[in-house]
Amino acid sequence: MSPNLTLISLISLALTGMINPALADDATIALHGNDRGTPACMSCHGAHGEGMPANGFPRLAGQNADYLQAQLVALTNGQRFNAMMTPIAKTLNADERATVARYYAGLGSPAGINAAVPETNSVGARLAIQGRWPQGLPACIQCHGAMGVGVGSTFPALAGQSSIYIENQLRAWQQGTRAPGPLGLMKVIASKLSATDIHDVATYFSALPTSTVSTRNQP
Ligand code: HEC
Ligand code: HEC
Repeated sequence: MSPNLTLISLISLALTGMINPALADDATIALHGNDRGTPACMSCHGAHGEGMPANGFPRLAGQNADYLQAQLVALTNGQRFNAMMTPIAKTLNADERATVARYYAGLGSPAGINAAVPETNSVGARLAIQGRWPQGLPACIQCHGAMGVGVGSTFPALAGQSSIYIENQLRAWQQGTRAPGPLGLMKVIASKLSATDIHDVATYFSALPTSTVSTRNQP
């Protein structure tokens, strides 16, 4: 082989190896777990991070990486508690938390959950889009973005999220099992919602299409 050809084949070998080596590594825990007792995340969060709505297992795909990482930390240090997820979060070290968060953010939002936009005159839709100002309740979309797509690393996407999961989180803030989070915003908001409000607003967001949802590239 001429020196030039060798060089070219070396370069192409290097490039082949570099076709997203990060993604392959990043996928390991999500798909297989690790040898220290961490189960494969996909067994509950779905093969593509789409979640298992009927079980209240949230979708992770397309959520912002910093947000996901912060939640794993909160689940580890007790700021947030869930009987299923807390023991799992505790098996991950800091590097693994960062890697798995990057992996799920990088998947982008699962396309095609919910084709049509739900009707906008239900109680849930009005709470989401207009809020309830006499009660000092801002519209959910003011923070969570139009159509619940999520904004940056602070405001997670809600569109197409499991309604059971959304309800569980709102109740967790009411009951104090999830830390108030940035500026205590969600604790205050949840405290103003009735059981019916929670059900209706969760139903609305879970029915929103996900095709445009992605916070992964936002700061
Ligand atoms: C046995 C089922 C199960 C497995 C396996 C599992 N999870 Fe979870 N996960 C849950 C449940 C249930 C919740 C919701 C907790 C709650 O309601 O507060 C959750 C919530 C989360 C959240 C919070 C999402 C948000 O929007 O705030 C993150 C992040 C997460 N899991 C990451 C992971 C990672 C990473 C793995 C793999 C290492 C994993 N999970 C494996 C059940 C599971
Ligand atoms: C003033 C800003 C603001 C408004 C308005 C707001 N939120 Fe939030 N929401 C947040 C922040 C910040 C977080 C992240 C909390 C954390 O980091 O723990 C959040 C998180 C959530 C989560 C958790 C999602 C997950 O993946 O774990 C749910 C569910 C939620 N909000 C529902 C709502 C609903 C429903 C409304 C309207 C009734 C609403 N929010 C209005 C700021 C807001």
